[in-house]
Amino acid sequence: MKIVIYPGSFDPIHNGHLDVIERAAKLCDKMIVAVAKNPGKTGLFSTGERLGLIEEVTSHIKGREITTFDGLLVDFFRETGAEAVVRGLRAVSDFEYEFQMALMNRNLLDDLETIFLVPSQENIYLSSRIIKEVARFGGDIDGFVPPIVGKALREKFS
Ligand code: PNS
Repeated sequence: MKIVIYPGSFDPIHNGHLDVIERAAKLCDKMIVAVAKNPGKTGLFSTGERLGLIEEVTSHIKGREITTFDGLLVDFFRETGAEAVVRGLRAVSDFEYEFQMALMNRNLLDDLETIFLVPSQENIYLSSRIIKEVARFGGDIDGFVPPIVGKALREKFS
């Protein structure tokens, strides 16, 4: 069974994440979407809220599992017996950070392969940070997030 992990903050999940999840799910038998619990980083959504939103918007994807992890990704990777980690690569600006993470992870665990997937063009510029900023000031975010996430964002900022 081929297992891949898609780790991230997902605060909140947006169409770019969903695009990567749908593409990655086609490449494996089990796709684990893993929300990192970062004690040093308080997000807009609680971990429980993030999980709930991911559950809802990925319900159509076969073989997906949603969970959290804390500590190092390599330790979680070992526990799950995954084959690879998937990350979305949007633009050149992502490259350095993603490259650093991939190399650090491989340094920590030689067996850990990182696969980069490129989302479709309309999702390439999306980031949770920018979407939250637009939502905070009442901008239209409907094209960037699934409806239930849009509703959750509007509630946060109402
Ligand atoms: O969505 P993000 O915030 O870009 O995701 C980053 C994430 C959570 C994948 C990364 O920070 C991570 O793997 N954190 C777990 C701690 C870890 O293993 N750090 C060392 C590898 S850089």
